Amino acid sequence: MTSILVTGGAGFIGSNFVHHVVTHTDFHVTVLDALTYAGNKASIESVLGERVEFVYGNICDAELVNELVANADIVVHFAAESHNDNSLNDPRPFVDTNIMGTFTLIEAARRHNTRFHHISTDEVYGDLELDDTERFTERTPYNPSSPYSSTKAGSDLLVRAWIRSFGLQATISNCSNNYGPFQHIEKFIPRQITNILSGIRPKLYGSGQNVRDWIHADDHSAAVLRIIERGVIGETYLIGADGEKSNLDVVKTILVAMGEPEDAFDLVSDRPGHDLRYAIDSSKLRAELGWKPAYNSFDDGIAATIEWYRVNRDWWEGHKNAVEEFYRKQGQ
Ligand code: NAD
Ligand code: TYD
Repeated sequence: MTSILVTGGAGFIGSNFVHHVVTHTDFHVTVLDALTYAGNKASIESVLGERVEFVYGNICDAELVNELVANADIVVHFAAESHNDNSLNDPRPFVDTNIMGTFTLIEAARRHNTRFHHISTDEVYGDLELDDTERFTERTPYNPSSPYSSTKAGSDLLVRAWIRSFGLQATISNCSNNYGPFQHIEKFIPRQITNILSGIRPKLYGSGQNVRDWIHADDHSAAVLRIIERGVIGETYLIGADGEKSNLDVVKTILVAMGEPEDAFDLVSDRPGHDLRYAIDSSKLRAELGWKPAYNSFDDGIAATIEWYRVNRDWWEGHKNAVEEFYRKQGQ
């Protein structure tokens, strides 16, 4: 039986991926997660058992990582510090986890010649003008803006160099903004949904004109699985679902879906260095590996996500005050 090591499997996308793998493969899954503020074991509790094992630990722990990688056929590396606003406040953990953690993992993968898939973001490419007709492709030069995106860019470059210099058996994917269940409520979409559920008005940074390219986390998982199964070693694949929307449009969609007036939001201080627009051209993944997104309606995906936060109040309610206090101090 194929044995897969999933780092960051108690986080948002990692936990969605674990559920996807359990449903669509017969792989044995080992989750390695340090349960930072962003990790929540409850997100995978329902599948823990014989097929899914949880190991509490840090990806910077070389001894532990070496042992787990030695026993795995494939490593899928999601673990990261992932929030731009936190990276502006305290960049250090981003350098530690995103750079040193990735270094620790690829050293173990090269030692054991283990198949490695590195999860990254489209934010490594910087941003686009609102009216730019080009989108990001695998050939777009790296130009990251924030401590988060620069440390992700650094980790991608390490993986690329390990492929070229050491023959690391690796692939890389850079995906656009994800939404869906199990996303930490510090992030844009769940913050606004849980604001409305808590009687707080949604908060839009700046003018709300910034554009993100949304994809459902389950579509991201399916793409990663496809890359593991059919991807070409050494290649990078961009993952996106043609889901460009302004933040203003997203907030209006959420408000209307929750039965509120579409102008019941506040404009708050902008994020320093705020990237204007991300947009992914995923034609390589679609043409070469035959992947396409299954979630074709953003409105339906958002409605299901709202329902998930409504039903799973226990999962997020304990974090709400601390998250809002963090933003309040920054005027956001
Ligand atoms: P998340 O913050 O929800 O989860 C990160 C997980 O990693 C948590 O469970 C946390 O406990 C764990 N972790 C953090 N530091 C660790 C360490 N040192 N050792 C072990 N575990 C550690 O993040 P996410 O949104 O699920 O993102 C997952 C990956 O996908 C990241 O690599 C991110 O860059 C990438 N990505 C995210 C998005 C997005 O929209 N969220 C888009 C594209 C790519
Ligand atoms: P976020 O979820 O932090 O993802 P990223 O910074 O990786 O794109 O933010 C998505 C967009 O939403 C981004 O343009 C910042 C904006 N935003 C708000 O307008 N209000 C908020 O409360 C948050 C958290 C984000």
